[in-house]
Parts: sequence; structure tokens; C-alpha cells
Amino acid sequence: MNFDKKAGLYHQNARIQKIVADWCAEWIEEDCSTLSALELGSGTGLFTRHLELRAFESLRATDLSRSMIEEGKSRLPDVDWAELDAWECESAAKVDRLYACSLLQWSENPLETLEKWRNALAPKGRFLGCLFVEGSLKELIGEEFRLGEFEWRSEQQWLTCFEQSNYDIRRWDTRLDEEIYDSPMQALRHLHDLGATTNRNANPGKLKQHLKRLETHSGRFKVSWKTLRLEGSVD
Ligand SMILES: C[S@@+](CC[C@H](N)C(=O)[O-])C[C@H]1O[C@@H](n2cnc3c(N)ncnc32)[C@H](O)[C@@H]1O
Repeated sequence: MNFDKKAGLYHQNARIQKIVADWCAEWIEEDCSTLSALELGSGTGLFTRHLELRAFESLRATDLSRSMIEEGKSRLPDVDWAELDAWECESAAKVDRLYACSLLQWSENPLETLEKWRNALAPKGRFLGCLFVEGSLKELIGEEFRLGEFEWRSEQQWLTCFEQSNYDIRRWDTRLDEEIYDSPMQALRHLHDLGATTNRNANPGKLKQHLKRLETHSGRFKVSWKTLRLEGSVD
């Protein structure tokens, strides 16, 4: 992904990510005053700003990208920001609550990631997050264009991953959002500006042909985002 390079553009372009961060925030507990919390992949702070309002005993927002952290810090200067790789976070001090919005779908090894996250949680700790599932960007993705090296998984597959990683799923649901663009090319440019693409895609000629084939007569191109929101706890 190119999040680091596009950090300056992410906040203004992350329309769906903002919607799902707000949606996920509905499930943050009211009283967090005795809890320690760690957020992974915080980006520019779209979800962090909800956490900050809850007055946790301690709250740390983290990201792998230094530029994202700088963006986040500039918007939420009173939050404790740090660099952390979410796929390798087991050495972090154990916390009562772990949060991650619009991050987990990028994991190439969800079971390993979820086990590390479980190990980062204190006894009776909880995870809350949202992630994009199969069906997202289905109009755009094809053999000539993938988003990255990860596999899209359905909500059922994700629920199984959480169960296999010994989380007790407390609640979950999904939502579907749609964005309308003038063309498939415009949709792809928007993903580029979000930083949600890699440089490892098919050759430019094939990609151009793919986008051409996707063009519609109406001059409107719809892109879907399907999101799973899930809260799970550990023993
Ligand atoms: C789609 S953005 C989501 C940001 C924020 N959570 C939100 O809801 O807007 C994904 C974020 O995850 C970060 N990220 C990607 N891989 C990561 C990793 N292995 N560890 C930590 N952060 C990562 C990116 O830098 C980016 O800021």
C-alpha cells in the first residue's frame, strides 16, 4: 500500500473510511475511564478522535507510517502517538481495549495477526474494529487489477478467523456503502489518492484496457464498499 506517500491526501479523500469509523465508534463503551487502550493503524485519526473523547485512563494511537502519524498528531495533538507495526504488535504492553478501523483486511495472514492482537490484550480484554470484506470494490477489481497481495474474505470467513483465534464474538454486523464516479478511471484515481493501491499491479496497458471495458453508457460508475464491524473479547 502507498499510505505513507499519500498521507497528506488521505484525510480529505477518506469518505467511506470516515463513515465507517463513525459507525464503529457507536460501539465504544460509555465509561472508559479505568481502561487502557491501543489503536492500530490509526492513520490521520478518523477513529482516534472518538476515542479521545472517551477519556481513557491511557490511550495510544499508532501507525506504521511516520507521515500518517505526523498528520494524526497535527489534528489530535493531545493524543499519545507512536510508530507500531500492527502485524508485529505482540511486544506492546497489554491493554484492556484494542481498536483497528479499516486495517485488518490488509493482513496477509489474519490468523497470525489475530493471535498477536489477542496476546496484546489483558485478561477480559476486548477488540473492536471494522474492516472491508468481500464485495468491496467488486466493480473495479479483476484479473488485471488487484488491490494488494491480500485475499478478500467474506464476513463469514472473518467470523471464523476470529473464532479460530479464540475470540468470543460479542456482536457484529455489516453495512454496504456506494460511491458514484464519472468513470472507472476516476474511481481508480481516488483509490490512488487514498494510498490504497500498490505499485505491483498489472502492466499499464492491460489496466487501461480493463478500465475501458468497465466503462458504462450512463457515464456513471458505481463502487461498493462492504464493511464488517465486530467486537470480540478474550478470556
Ligand atoms: C485505510 S487507513 C485507515 C486509517 C484509520 N484507521 C481510519 O479509519 O481512517 C489504513 C492505515 O493503516 C496503516 N497501516 C497499514 N499497514 C499497517 C501495519 N502493518 N501496521 C500499522 N499500520 C498499518 C496505514 O499506514 C494507514 O494509515
